[in-house]
Amino acid sequence: MKPNPMPTPPVLAESHLDEIRTLIEQRSAILLDASRERFFSTRVREFLEEKELPDGGELLRSVRGSSIEYEELLERLLTQETSFFRYPAVYEALQKKILPEVQERKVWHNPRTLRIWSAGCSTGEEPYSIAITVTDSLKFAEAWEIEILATDISRRALRHAERGHYPKRSLQYMEPRHVDAHFESTKVGYQIRQRTRRMISFAHMNLAEAPYVGKLDCIFCMNVLMYFSEERRLQILRRFYDALEPGGFFVLGHSETLSNLPMKFESVVLGDCRIYRKPVAAELNRALAVVESGL
Ligand SMILES: C[S@@+](CC[C@H](N)C(=O)[O-])C[C@H]1O[C@@H](n2cnc3c(N)ncnc32)[C@H](O)[C@@H]1O
Repeated sequence: MKPNPMPTPPVLAESHLDEIRTLIEQRSAILLDASRERFFSTRVREFLEEKELPDGGELLRSVRGSSIEYEELLERLLTQETSFFRYPAVYEALQKKILPEVQERKVWHNPRTLRIWSAGCSTGEEPYSIAITVTDSLKFAEAWEIEILATDISRRALRHAERGHYPKRSLQYMEPRHVDAHFESTKVGYQIRQRTRRMISFAHMNLAEAPYVGKLDCIFCMNVLMYFSEERRLQILRRFYDALEPGGFFVLGHSETLSNLPMKFESVVLGDCRIYRKPVAAELNRALAVVESGL
């Protein structure tokens, strides 16, 4: 009796990978460059095998022809690493600098609104950490209309975020008073409390498109911009700048910085944390006057 032939692995040529890379950059603006080559080819191969497709050509036909298949592949290629209070210094800056400044600037506003955007919120740990800090630090919070907008391109991550249920280990470094105030204990983890959950509006959004988000007091975009080309990053930063109120803040991840930008962000250093502020009108006018008088 002849032995069963070994199943042949699907063919995934370099040219297929290149086409998939181009497709993802065109549709979702995500750049899968050489630094993530291994991650990329392994994930695509896994997808191909799971779908039992014979080769990369079939995979391309499938993802080009169906947005469901495309999104399923995209989900595999996204990095969703995140955690509660990921960089504690950032939340200290929110508490000690950003919120007090917004409070002072808007003291006579009616209604008094506070709008913060977590752009690339992944599974929700970031917007919930923002909500917890705001609840803790904003004076006379009941006099404010607070909205935290949390967006991501990954529908799977958003579903997790909206559910607001996390395993115990996710909260292990959180202050016990925060856990008690904002979560209910369940058999297998913790569930975010409704009053904290209600502060956040979750929405599916591709940052490469130009969605209207209204004016904001603060934008968190941590560990997301690194996935875009230089040109795309500039376009997105321009939109962030335009969406910020004068005096509004912009927060990046720990190892990310802004440089060589055509728009004017002020850099504010607090301990080992750097955040950025859009100048308030008077400061902007002064800066322009200086430029004009130098012409
Ligand atoms: C590494 S996580 C960062 C999560 C969180 N901001 C943090 O720092 O902990 C990057 C997130 O950006 C999202 N993302 C990537 N490309 C995106 C795009 N074009 N539009 C919106 N979100 C995107 C991913 O789905 C992922 O959830």
